[in-house]
Amino acid sequence: MTALGLMGIGLLATCDPQLGRGPLGLVDNAALVVDRGLIVYAGPAAGAPRDTDGWRDLDGRCVLPGFVDSHTHLIFAGDRVDEFSLRMAGRPYRPGGILDTVAATRAASRSDLAGRARRLVDQALRSGTTTVEIKTGYGLTPAHEAAHLEIARALTREVTFLGAHLVPPEFAADRSGYLRLLTDTMIPAAATAGSARWCDVFCEAGAFDVHESRAVLDAASRHGLGLRVHANQLGPGGGVALACEMGAASADHCTHLTPADVDELAGSNTVATLLPISDFCTRQPYPDGRALLAAGVTIALASNCNPGSSYSTSLPLALALAVRECGLTIDQAILAATRGGAAALQRPDVGRLSPGSRADAIILDAPDPAHLVYRLGAPLVSAVLKDGAWAWKGPLS
Ligand code: NIG
Repeated sequence: MTALGLMGIGLLATCDPQLGRGPLGLVDNAALVVDRGLIVYAGPAAGAPRDTDGWRDLDGRCVLPGFVDSHTHLIFAGDRVDEFSLRMAGRPYRPGGILDTVAATRAASRSDLAGRARRLVDQALRSGTTTVEIKTGYGLTPAHEAAHLEIARALTREVTFLGAHLVPPEFAADRSGYLRLLTDTMIPAAATAGSARWCDVFCEAGAFDVHESRAVLDAASRHGLGLRVHANQLGPGGGVALACEMGAASADHCTHLTPADVDELAGSNTVATLLPISDFCTRQPYPDGRALLAAGVTIALASNCNPGSSYSTSLPLALALAVRECGLTIDQAILAATRGGAAALQRPDVGRLSPGSRADAIILDAPDPAHLVYRLGAPLVSAVLKDGAWAWKGPLS
């Protein structure tokens, strides 16, 4: 790919504090030059190289890194709108609803599942998501999970095996049999086929207890998969401590944290991934993001798109909730959805606009990234650059 230059950037949020002012590394009157999928220049327009093949004038728009959504469950069929409606009327969220989606997903064709997942990835792109992690977990048999891993692999390199989402109905009377299937067959297969990079476990009352979750993570680690944990979503529990003990890249949800959990996170390299859209949709309290940051914890913000607890791909919505309900400043929320997501996926090449990083950027129809929260619900994303090419052009075209 030849070099492309973006000029007329009213405000560039590099998310690299070394490149500009404040935590977002802001540069006024900026230019961005990309070549072969990477950023080669991000800074004041006056200092930009002149020898690009083509310049695009952004007419004062603001540019920021593409969002890194480090937690989604996109391989599913059907929906659970009836369950959602009951919940909005006051019924509590229960993990058991997952099995309704397992039944619908097992009955769906592979092409149907692939098409649905592709449409969700495209939808996410149009709201600025350029890197997405995708979990399996609605198949729960060796054959279904293997097929779902392949579907995910065609859409992203950040694929997570979540066979330990729930014990499937055919193993209801034999939990240890399903755990053996996971540790001895499904995890080795997910790792050997090279289709999964990560393994996750839903560590929660009603899903997998700490002892079972440790067995899953142990097997995954032995087979070379990186670790992630659904932790402390519906109540306090040992998920966060387990994630930190096992060196998981991320502990996700973190809705119900004790002071000891916060200390564990602060003393580890495990990122706390907040999923406020699911807290909204399940009527849970919101995690105290401000307290986590004050303790020195790295936080990420993700959509958790799935048909049960959070049927949304919108990181702008997650930003607004994180600011209003988790106590983050707008800058902190934007960093959590970019740099934080990259940290949760251990991807130093995304989540910032610095020379050498992937040229994944959002062009915003607004003068400042804070407008993403200020004008909540408005479709402000004008265009999206992915790997240095226009992946979506809306109002910019
Ligand atoms: O992260 N908690 C487990 N998994 C999903 C919910 C899945 C569902 O309800 O279908 C989550 O919220």
